[in-house]
Amino acid sequence: MANKKIVLGITGGIAAYKAAELVRLLQKNNIDVQVVMTQAACQFITPVTMQALSGKPVFIDMWDASIANGMPHIELSRQVDAIVIAPASADFLAKIVHGGADDLLSTLCLARDCPLLVAPAMNKQMWENPATQRNIAQLQADGISILGPDSGEQACGEIGLGRMLEAQDLCDLVYAHLSPKPLNGQRILITAGPTLEMIDPVRAITNLSSGKMGYAIAQAAFEMGAEVTLVSGATALKPPLGVNNISAISAENMYQTVMQNVANQNIFIGVAAVADYSPATKHSQKIKKSEQTLSIALNKNKDILADVASLPNAPFCVGFAAESENLLEYAESKRKAKKLPLIVANLASDAMGSDENQVTLLDKNGAHPLANAPKIAVARGILQHIAKCISSP
Ligand code: CTP
Repeated sequence: MANKKIVLGITGGIAAYKAAELVRLLQKNNIDVQVVMTQAACQFITPVTMQALSGKPVFIDMWDASIANGMPHIELSRQVDAIVIAPASADFLAKIVHGGADDLLSTLCLARDCPLLVAPAMNKQMWENPATQRNIAQLQADGISILGPDSGEQACGEIGLGRMLEAQDLCDLVYAHLSPKPLNGQRILITAGPTLEMIDPVRAITNLSSGKMGYAIAQAAFEMGAEVTLVSGATALKPPLGVNNISAISAENMYQTVMQNVANQNIFIGVAAVADYSPATKHSQKIKKSEQTLSIALNKNKDILADVASLPNAPFCVGFAAESENLLEYAESKRKAKKLPLIVANLASDAMGSDENQVTLLDKNGAHPLANAPKIAVARGILQHIAKCISSP
């Protein structure tokens, strides 16, 4: 994504401390941040902190003569791709519902010609109050994006809805909002993570897949405008926001879940490390040790990807090949055997568990290597290639 700019508005709420982390994360994603604070926000976090983190003067005062033309409300909003208010207090939301403009931040919101995103942060009773709910409904009707809130423990000790989303979630949603949308209108089904094949009630056969690549693909697909369903084996990861997440633990479970959800999908991406075999007998009780050696008979599992690719109205199918040798040769023969338009080849040693990956895309036109990069960047590269393939088959 080309460099983008936002105004980050901070209003008075205890969640203002999360805005400090948010600035760092946005900047890491090449999003330039101009901070504007209300007077109430300055009671919770200092402008000096936000200035040091953003590397720019922080604006608070409507009458700040240092801003060009002496018209900060016009000047600041014209230079940016979005205004993001985080945290957005109940009072601030009520004010912008009515077009109030009695300080710099609210005036900026009223005078803007760019999208406005707000991340509510308040006590659960304040959030549930019909007045706040009316305001939220009106903001949505006005085309303003509401990010969260989350549920959980609140500063006051109560538990419920009203917590501001964590900085990483907010950063991901802002990034998604600003991203180009080449996959708008596309429905994408993705498998991710390992499968777990039970031997007895306490033992299983699994593999070292972390799920990071599949989750990154799901996040990148959401950013690019797709409607995403993620069918995931057991992982330690939090599913990306905006994605429909379905858990499927065993290979058989994953097979059934994919087949129930594949109708009307435009794209299927098999990222999961699906077990090729599972125990022929599932013991209902723990196997006791007795003999010196133990043999477990295994049956071959159904191939989800191959079966989806051979459906009559198959979606555009993408496979992953994790190899330990002869990478491109083995990957290309898998692509042909499963009749896939595209396969992503990577070395198992690069891919498994790591935060980065180096992949080569193989399609009918040959090999397209992508540079080694964090998995989210690799995921964006893979999806851009898929978007090109489906727009000009
Ligand atoms: N796959 C699948 N269902 C299976 C097995 C694999 O959908 N039962 C998918 C994976 O998600 C991945 C691709 O197929 O996209 C991997 O192909 P595969 O030939 O199964 O790879 P390996 O299991 O690594 O094969 P091998 O062990 O023979 O190298």
